[in-house]
Amino acid sequence: MRIAMIGSGYVGLVSGACFADFGHTVTCVDKDERKINALLQGEIPIYEPGLDVLVNGNRFAGRLSFTTDLSSAMKDVDAVFIAVGTPTRRGDGHADLSYVYAAAEEIAALLSRYTVIVTKSTVPVGTADEVEAIIRRVAPEADFSVASNPEFLREGAAIDDFKRPDRVVVGADDERAREVLRKLYRPLNLNETPIMFTNRRTAELIKYAANAFLATKITFINEMADICEKTGANVQDVARGIGLDRRIGSKFLHAGPGYGGSCFPKDTMALVRTAEQYQAPTRIVEAVVEANAARKKRMVDKIESACGGSVKGKTIAILGLAFKPETDDMRDAPSLDIVPGLIDRGATVQAHDPQSIKEAKHLLPDSVIYCDDPYLTAKDADAVVIITEWNEYRALNIERLGKALRRRVMIDLRNIYKSEEIVPLGFDYTSVGR
Ligand code: UDX
Repeated sequence: MRIAMIGSGYVGLVSGACFADFGHTVTCVDKDERKINALLQGEIPIYEPGLDVLVNGNRFAGRLSFTTDLSSAMKDVDAVFIAVGTPTRRGDGHADLSYVYAAAEEIAALLSRYTVIVTKSTVPVGTADEVEAIIRRVAPEADFSVASNPEFLREGAAIDDFKRPDRVVVGADDERAREVLRKLYRPLNLNETPIMFTNRRTAELIKYAANAFLATKITFINEMADICEKTGANVQDVARGIGLDRRIGSKFLHAGPGYGGSCFPKDTMALVRTAEQYQAPTRIVEAVVEANAARKKRMVDKIESACGGSVKGKTIAILGLAFKPETDDMRDAPSLDIVPGLIDRGATVQAHDPQSIKEAKHLLPDSVIYCDDPYLTAKDADAVVIITEWNEYRALNIERLGKALRRRVMIDLRNIYKSEEIVPLGFDYTSVGR
């Protein structure tokens, strides 16, 4: 089958490359000429394990191409995917759909045969209806369907998630569209992945409900961690103890500094707004949004108290700035609250991250000192704080770290160490919910 993928960001690029790898012919389109030129040179604009090999391999095989010209990309396609950004709209927290609607208008002007227009971006309930209305208005005679096919991939595990998903959700209101989507995902049937067909509004809501539920699980265990800290219980054992109940499940129960990233904060907020708009407020998701934002800020107090009540005049070594490991993405990362918070309270910050320093330089105060490795970061610092659980921090030489530090204080916001490993080496060790 032939596909055009509009938007070569995280979702568009990974989905485009994976569909090409399934054997389809894919053209990825983006308005950003620099991005397309880079991709044409074989450079990948984001850090995602395995993506360079997948993109370039499929390009050389002739199944994947890049262009800024939508009309050439749409020639003879069976489906056009819209995978543009839906950022939070300034001022009101709704999802900003201007890029989605602009894409719909452009597509409408180029339709020449039956085409399925598929929204892959995370879009509020009713967006596919609006896309259909826009296309119908611009091209009243065109032969097309609009379908919703939300994407559930995680950054850092994007290719595996796309190729081996737990499920594929397709919202389509007619059989012709369902048939095209069924063929596109045909290679997955071999792995017996359930492809779930629903109406469009349901598919749109499934994506928000999934993200809000996962964000709720994380926020729930984070609050349990607070209770554990006060009562002397251990949150990791609580998580295991509840997670073994299959009705609850063990995933997304790791306590930490609060969730971040490009999806959970934006999508929980947008769901709250949709719920208000339809007079069906979701008090649970509202509480999750509030609790998570407050938690990220509160991590500064936690560090301060581990440092003896003040960080004024102290040097703090930060390990990990990205919102999670295996990505250079810093959107809504806990580090964006923690690092400026420490600086406001008079600390000097030295920081390390394996991938996101370039990004961090735009987002964090200029006074942050960036270091090339964890031990240099710890040099003469009064405490070391682990914010992101990169694998390379899981097996640090703690004695070497201790020698670099001025004071042996570790605040492990991801629970990657056990106090039995750290305390015998003369460290004050603080973690989350233990
Ligand atoms: C998420 C969803 O998992 C994915 O299905 C959706 O398509 C996009 O949003 P992503 O944001 O890439 O994916 O990362 P994810 O691994 O889900 O982590 C999100 C945040 O939750 C991170 O800040 C992570 O550190 C945090 N988290 C996750 C926890 O604090 N504890 C956990 O147990 C799991």
